[in-house]
Amino acid sequence: MTHRRPRVGVAIPEAELIALRQRLLRWYASNGRDLPWRRTTDPYAILISETMLQQTQVSRVLAKYGEWLAAFPSLDRLARAPLRDVLLLWQGLGYNNRARRLHDTAVAVASPAGTGTLPAALDALLALPGIGPYTARAILVFAHNCDVAAIDTNVRRVLIHELDLDPDIKPQDLRLVAEAALPHGCSREWHNALMDYGALELTARRTGLAPTSRQGRFAGSRRQYRGRCLRVILARQRLTLSELAAELALPESDVALLLALLEDDGLVVRHAHHVAIA
Ligand code: ADE
Repeated sequence: MTHRRPRVGVAIPEAELIALRQRLLRWYASNGRDLPWRRTTDPYAILISETMLQQTQVSRVLAKYGEWLAAFPSLDRLARAPLRDVLLLWQGLGYNNRARRLHDTAVAVASPAGTGTLPAALDALLALPGIGPYTARAILVFAHNCDVAAIDTNVRRVLIHELDLDPDIKPQDLRLVAEAALPHGCSREWHNALMDYGALELTARRTGLAPTSRQGRFAGSRRQYRGRCLRVILARQRLTLSELAAELALPESDVALLLALLEDDGLVVRHAHHVAIA
């Protein structure tokens, strides 16, 4: 095996970029996955799939995506749904904050001060509550085929590996590389190719390149307790602190801490004598 030195600069010869584009687009043409969110350019549907895919495996998202769109087919319908219904449907995907963020976005867009539809410009998307830099760029790529780079963990790994980049490359430098590599006019297809190549061919195990952020152990974690606590409140709708503590088999002081965290996240509210979904 040849030893390749990590590239520290960001100026990649154009010939190398052309070769990479050809190789990956050709690979994608015969190996790409047929995923339901690739059969739509509806910005709302893309917002949902990209939010679900951020911290959840494709197989789990596949099971939920259709169900979500059937229940909340538009931003307006999502805005009008109670947060409880939204969180109930989200069950099984984890990281419930994402469901609340989707609801926040829908409420902002559907409000009298909102535009009624998701904007198609980066600044306007970023100005909405609940939409971060990756999601905003992914909407521009997958809904509008814009020539911007959306970098998730698979895209990052493929670019670093295929272009011999320094694995510790700064995010802003990686963005420059990703933008240089992008074949203009084919952004949607290119990103699909990068994501599939990373997911199917150039896996983290094969490259030894770990993601920049890792999900911690779930069993016994605070995240697991928060999830359990929220699930009980969702099922029971309203209950007292001592009822909740009994259901969870935890001391009230621990439950109070979990509730404070859930309240900070805008998921639950603590009333004088009971707790409920926000
Ligand atoms: N992960 C994030 N976005 C994705 C997409 N559009 N297709 C497959 N995996 C993804």
